Amino acid sequence: MNNLFEVSKKTVVITGGAGVIGSAIAKGFHALGANVAIVNRKDEDAQAMANTLGGSAKGYGANVLKEDELKAAKNAILKDFGSIDVLINVAGGNMKGATIGPDQTFYDLSIHDFEKVVSLNLKGTVLPTMIFSEPMAEQKSGSIINISSMTASQPFTRVVGYGAAKAGIDNFTKWLSVEMNAKFGEGIRVNAIAPGVFIGKQNKDLLVDADGKFTKRGNTIIEHTPMRRFGLPEELVGTAVWLSSEASKFVNGIVVPVDGGFSAFSGV
Ligand SMILES: NC(=O)c1ccc[n+]([C@@H]2O[C@H](COP(=O)([O-])OP(=O)(O)OC[C@H]3O[C@@H](n4cnc5c(N)ncnc54)[C@H](O)[C@@H]3O)[C@@H](O)[C@H]2O)c1
Repeated sequence: MNNLFEVSKKTVVITGGAGVIGSAIAKGFHALGANVAIVNRKDEDAQAMANTLGGSAKGYGANVLKEDELKAAKNAILKDFGSIDVLINVAGGNMKGATIGPDQTFYDLSIHDFEKVVSLNLKGTVLPTMIFSEPMAEQKSGSIINISSMTASQPFTRVVGYGAAKAGIDNFTKWLSVEMNAKFGEGIRVNAIAPGVFIGKQNKDLLVDADGKFTKRGNTIIEHTPMRRFGLPEELVGTAVWLSSEASKFVNGIVVPVDGGFSAFSGV
């Protein structure tokens, strides 16, 4: 039972691994001795993150929307580490035009930006999964972890495109979990993590004002979070390690909230 949460022999691919949440997850796996492959759009960001970690971390520049770049990254990772055992699809995020501001209505939505944000989050999860999970299908084992959001199941105001995309990720997670077991056996599992709200680069302006105080939206989120605070990126590591390891051997097709109780609270 000592090695129930063992990940030290695994190669973990993390898309968006140079971002706020991706880098915290990368650090967590690195500290446990895993081989960590940071995949990020800009090669220099991926390399910088890998250099910060050192040891068995390596960076690979690839856009999650570009098949040729992802295939090149996969080949390089296999050459460097020999296998891919865990894929964590973290790359994603929101875009302003796919958001309805307080002084706008639904009719102001930029359908172009809506498509872009759905593409980044949904295609940006499906396409890397097609490419990085192929070695898992061959070896008949592996764990795929997608990053969803609270807004997938309880839509937040404003973020219409982002919410639609993350709801698509929940559906895809369940669909692929069934498909993988049917075609490649029980060794491949597909789950998702739905983080509560974490202050990141992309949402900071929505949550914190210029004086460092929480905005009205920031306060509303805190009021709906029983733990009365935002999450810390490193608080996602434990769930990611659990879903990657033998400890979750019979867990497949679920979305795990890591949200300080947000999803349990009705607001009353
Ligand atoms: N911050 C939150 O509160 C929160 C809550 C729920 C879910 N999430 C999700 O967590 C994930 C990470 O969020 P974050 O706050 O760390 O954001 P972030 O912007 O800090 O990180 C995203 C990373 O993905 C990379 N990236 C973006 N587009 C890419 C592309 N096309 N190809 C390759 N890499 C690309 C970026 O360069 C960046 O390193 C996102 O999917 C986000 O939707 C965040």
